[in-house]
Amino acid sequence: MNTAPLLNTAPAVQPVEEGQPQDDARAFRRCLGQFATGIAIITTEFEGQPVGMAVNSFAAVSLDPALVLWSIRKESSSAAAFLGAQKYAVNILEEEQTEVSRIFGAGRADKFEQVRWASGVHGCPLISPAIGHFECALEHVADGGDHHILIGRVLRFSRFDGRPLLFTQGQYAVAQSHPSLLAPAAEQTPVPKQDSSEMPLLSLLKSTAQKLSGQFEEHREALGMTLATSRMLNALGDGISTLDGLERATYLGQTSTEDALNEMLANGYVTHADASGEYTLTASGRSKVEALRQRAMDFTLQKLKGLTAQEIATAKKVMDSLQAH
Ligand SMILES: Cc1cc2nc3c(=O)[nH]c(=O)nc-3n(C[C@H](O)[C@H](O)[C@H](O)COP(=O)(O)O)c2cc1C
Repeated sequence: MNTAPLLNTAPAVQPVEEGQPQDDARAFRRCLGQFATGIAIITTEFEGQPVGMAVNSFAAVSLDPALVLWSIRKESSSAAAFLGAQKYAVNILEEEQTEVSRIFGAGRADKFEQVRWASGVHGCPLISPAIGHFECALEHVADGGDHHILIGRVLRFSRFDGRPLLFTQGQYAVAQSHPSLLAPAAEQTPVPKQDSSEMPLLSLLKSTAQKLSGQFEEHREALGMTLATSRMLNALGDGISTLDGLERATYLGQTSTEDALNEMLANGYVTHADASGEYTLTASGRSKVEALRQRAMDFTLQKLKGLTAQEIATAKKVMDSLQAH
């Protein structure tokens, strides 16, 4: 008998559905779907051809040794390739990649023509973008009923900036911080919304900046840039060239700044001089900065439509003064 105080004292809730898996397979699947997962594309190369499929059965198993697992339907047309290849790569999808999941979740022959990919160090296709890559050696295949369970030893991993695509209750989803993390419990009763005319000026500036940044997101996405890359390009465009300086200017933190720099080095947007430790924009990086700034300029002009030159000048003066003191 559990004697610990209950966290929730509401009366016990009746299940929406219940039973034994063999009686109602769909209801059983719906109950499994209550557990949220990410989505990965598992890839391999077999007989000279890239092979890949979408899965949500990927899971971490062990840190030392580094082991992961996923399971494949025994009847899958890709099963022979994954059992025969002895290696596989796990490509973890980011929140905007529902289409990639759909492509690799269907038995299409042209999957790899629809995505950007390159062979990894261990020969398996690595899809980009992705928020994580694990290159694995197949260590053990266990029988899992109508599935094979493929346990792999991780040989290499790469983590990229970005948020995961989730799958739960039979549909795609995105991750959001839990509301309880955003405000301490005591402050959770909603505070009446403040009229902008009553907001302290600094709060108004902050909420305006947040709103505009959200609205600009679609322009950034149209240029194919992540938030991290766009901040880095802006800072590099302003002449900031050291790792420390970039980290401070972008508020990205050390790991994400390094990740973004590595991605930009790989994309050919920056070069790194070992002797000075400085990062410099390449011609292609500079043209990205120009494209980003042009978009920002067009966006600003559109937002300021309807204001007089004098009103804009006054607003600028206020902001200059706030920055100066
Ligand atoms: C979100 C999602 C998750 C999936 N998870 C798995 C899985 O864990 N294991 C599996 O065998 N198939 C899974 N599938 C189905 C395969 O991706 C699908 O059957 C694919 O077409 C297999 O390729 P094939 O043509 O080689 O059989 C999933 C599909 C989707 C869309």
